[in-house]
Amino acid sequence: MPTTTPSSRSLDRVSATPISFARGAPAPSLIPAEELAECAHEVARRDGATVFAYGPGGGYAPLREWVAERHDVPTERVVLTVGGLQGFVFYAAEQLVRRPGRVLVEAPSYDRPLKVLAREGVEIVALPMDDEGLDPDALDAELRSRSDPASFLYTIPTFQNPSGRSLSPERRARLVEVVREHELAVLEDDPYGLVRFEGAAPPSLLELEGGTLVTYTSSFSKTVAPGVRTGYFVLPQSDASGFEERAVSTYISPPFLPEAIVWEFIRRGRFEPNLERVQDELRSRRDAMLHALELHVGEQATWSTPEGGYFVWLDLEGTDTNDLAARAEEAGVAIVAGAAFFPRESGLGGSAARLAFSYETPERIGEGIELLASLR
Ligand SMILES: Cc1ncc(COP(=O)(O)O)c(C=O)c1O
Repeated sequence: MPTTTPSSRSLDRVSATPISFARGAPAPSLIPAEELAECAHEVARRDGATVFAYGPGGGYAPLREWVAERHDVPTERVVLTVGGLQGFVFYAAEQLVRRPGRVLVEAPSYDRPLKVLAREGVEIVALPMDDEGLDPDALDAELRSRSDPASFLYTIPTFQNPSGRSLSPERRARLVEVVREHELAVLEDDPYGLVRFEGAAPPSLLELEGGTLVTYTSSFSKTVAPGVRTGYFVLPQSDASGFEERAVSTYISPPFLPEAIVWEFIRRGRFEPNLERVQDELRSRRDAMLHALELHVGEQATWSTPEGGYFVWLDLEGTDTNDLAARAEEAGVAIVAGAAFFPRESGLGGSAARLAFSYETPERIGEGIELLASLR
C-alpha cells in the first residue's frame, strides 16, 4: 500500500532491522506450513474443478457455511474476503455511499484503515479510550454534539491493534445501548479475539446487538496464516448483497484455492489444536515482553497488559517516540511510533509506541526491550 505520512515511512524502514517489534506478523514457527501444504494438495485434487473456476462472489461455499454456523446466521449474510482489510475497503465504500458522513474511530486505532479513510478524504473523528477500551459515553456525547449523521463507528474491541486493550463487558453493553439509540452502524473488527491466553471471552458486539447495526469481521490471518488471505464479514441482512456486489465488481470471484485450504484445515480437525499451539507460543512471548518491560523500563512509563493478541502499547512519558524509533532502528530494534495510529492532524501519540511480541522469540524480545530501554 503506498504510504505518504512521515510516521508510515518510518514503518517501512524499521521492518528490515534485526529485532522487530514493528510488524503485526506471526513468527514463521506459528505458521502450520506442512499441514497447509497437505491441505492444498488435497483440495486441488479433490475439488479442483471448483477451486480453479469462477464462482460465487461470497466465497467458497463450505467455508462460508462453517462461518455462518459459528455465528448462527444465514449463509447469505457471510461474505469471505481477501483478508480483513480488503473487506474494510468494501464496507467503508458501501457505508459512505449509503450514509455519507464522518467515521468514528477509537484513538489509537489500526493505522491501515485510517490511511484508507484519509486517502478518500473522509472526516475521521478520534474517540478517547483507556485501559477498558473505547469510552461509550464519549461516543454518545460526540453523536449528540452534531446534527449531521455519522457514517459508522470502526472499533476493535478485543486485543486491539495497536493497544492490546479490550473493551470491558460493562462498556460493551453500554456501547450497544448508545449505538441503538443513535441507530449508528458499527464495524466490529475482531481478528485477535480467538488468540486469547487467559480469562473468559466477553460477548461480541454482534452477539449483544443482534446484527442489525453491527457488522462483524474476522480473518484467518492470526489463527491459521496471513498468506491464505482469507477474511470474512458477517453483515446485516440488508447490507449483504450490496457488499457482495462490491466484491464481484472488484475481483469477479475471490481466490477459492486458499479458502478451500482453510476449509480443509478445519475439516481435518486442525483448527483448534493449531490455535492452542499459537496461543501457547504467543503467551510466552507476551510474558517475555511484560517481564522485560518491568525489568528494564519500569519508572515513568506505562504499558498495557493484554490477555491475548499481538501487541503491547507503551507510553514513555516525556519521550519523543518518533525520535526514539529512529535511534532504535540504527541500534537494531524496530518499533512503530505511536503517532501512526492516530488521525494525522490530531498530533496525538507522540510519546507512545506499539510493540508487537508476535514475531520474535522470548529471548530476543528480552534483548530488544533491554536495548530499547537503554536508548531512552
Ligand atoms: C485490527 C486488524 N484488522 C484487520 C487486519 C487485516 O488482516 P488481514 O487483512 O490479514 O485479514 C489486521 C492485520 O493486522 C488487524 O490488526
